[in-house]
Amino acid sequence: NNLRVVTLDGPAGVGKTTLAKRVAQELSIAYLDTGAMFRIFGWKFGEAAPTMTEEELEAHIAQYTFSLSGFGFDSVLSVNGTPVGDEIRTEEVAALASSVAKLPVVRTALKRVQREISTNTSLVAEGRDMGTVVFPSAKYKFFLDATAEERGARRFKQLQELGQPADLELIISQIKERDKQDRTRTIAPLIPAEDAHIIDTTELDIDGVFTAIMQFFAD
Ligand code: C5P
Repeated sequence: NNLRVVTLDGPAGVGKTTLAKRVAQELSIAYLDTGAMFRIFGWKFGEAAPTMTEEELEAHIAQYTFSLSGFGFDSVLSVNGTPVGDEIRTEEVAALASSVAKLPVVRTALKRVQREISTNTSLVAEGRDMGTVVFPSAKYKFFLDATAEERGARRFKQLQELGQPADLELIISQIKERDKQDRTRTIAPLIPAEDAHIIDTTELDIDGVFTAIMQFFAD
């Protein structure tokens, strides 16, 4: 089909992943989780990154090859042939991801990988700079937003449902900290593309946001 790329950007905890997968499923195209790429790097060498030279960073980055297969809910992102697992889904890894995400060498490398993946398949690309930097000419761009308090409350509820310990105040402060880091960095800061459809999800549930997005594909 001729959709090519749909971009879905926004801050932490806004529901991007759930929505991006659903939109990809509905459109029968692949789903690309670009946050997972930064998380892998954060997890693998995030602690050491601040003290590395550009050459050292490049040498680390060169050890990882990403590939994407399947579509919709069954999209699978792999690193060196192994599907990305749940070990990167912690707030510690997210914070490390956010700190490596400030580094120009890291961003340049991942931008190249992300564009290359898009040459083989149509996709919904989820991240922070998909509409602004990586796919500026994408036809469909969305930017989801919600207050930090609302995003924190959703995350809190999720953890409670999983029976995991959760501290609402702590979650909100971690979200605000990561937002600040993502919005204020010099390269590719979190900001809506000029031509993105901005959807405030504070008062909407997942179905409401999904419907709002799909209206743009009505014809
Ligand atoms: O989306 P997710 O929470 O998994 O992303 C983790 C971190 O990776 C973000 O906080 C952000 O710093 C970084 N990131 C980015 N650009 C993207 C996707 C994620 O800088 N396109």
